[in-house]
Amino acid sequence: MEKTTLLYEGKAKKVYRTTDDNLLISQFTDSLTAFDGKKKHNELGKGALNNKISSHLFELLNNKGVQTHFVQNIDDNHMLHKNCEVILLEVIVRNIATGSLTKNLGIKDGTVLPFALVEFDYKNDELGDPKLNDQHALILNLVENKNELDILRTKARQINDILKPFFLNIGLKLVDFKLEFGKDKQGNIILIDELSPDNCRFWDTNTGESLDKDRFRQGIGGVKVAYEEVLKRILG
Ligand code: C5P
Repeated sequence: MEKTTLLYEGKAKKVYRTTDDNLLISQFTDSLTAFDGKKKHNELGKGALNNKISSHLFELLNNKGVQTHFVQNIDDNHMLHKNCEVILLEVIVRNIATGSLTKNLGIKDGTVLPFALVEFDYKNDELGDPKLNDQHALILNLVENKNELDILRTKARQINDILKPFFLNIGLKLVDFKLEFGKDKQGNIILIDELSPDNCRFWDTNTGESLDKDRFRQGIGGVKVAYEEVLKRILG
């Protein structure tokens, strides 16, 4: 399958049409951004790592009965996936408090939450991806009805219930992560986008070290080495 015209360019991915209207190709780039794109860097090889990590995790979820857009890995930087209508919500799942949760609500960093917290952000760069409640999402027509929001929450928890123990088993705490969903041609709500250290936080269970994009956000360095370590553990 060959890519044809560029459909969409995100911060770390380019999405192309293909000769089949049902399929798209995502190109994972080496671009790293943080703070609404204000901090930028090119990390050679990062795109290929995220493509491999995402492909593996999508396959894992597919095998556990969670529908995703993943079709197949094409090469180092390219993934073939279904063409879905994107739902403009970022679904954030949190197991441990850190990042914007500690900043906004004053919860102590590292607090283990009593249950997985699911939040919605409006996927809108110009507005800085603000937090939303159900009523905002309905007023903005981001979903068709309240039931769709419940489906998103249920799917997000289901994914967390699969990934959290999977990562614990390879010495990583799944602290929090961002999911995106879309509707396939049959109208099913399925997982899209990517699952990688760009949109998940992983803390090493022994050292507490961050093995994700926080290394870039906080300027710690060693981004690529951390992403390579995540892939190595995933592949066993
Ligand atoms: O910044 P915050 O603490 O809200 O991030 C929560 C989780 O969602 C983190 O894993 C972060 O990487 C991810 N996230 C993301 N894209 C965004 C906002 C958050 O991948 N636009």
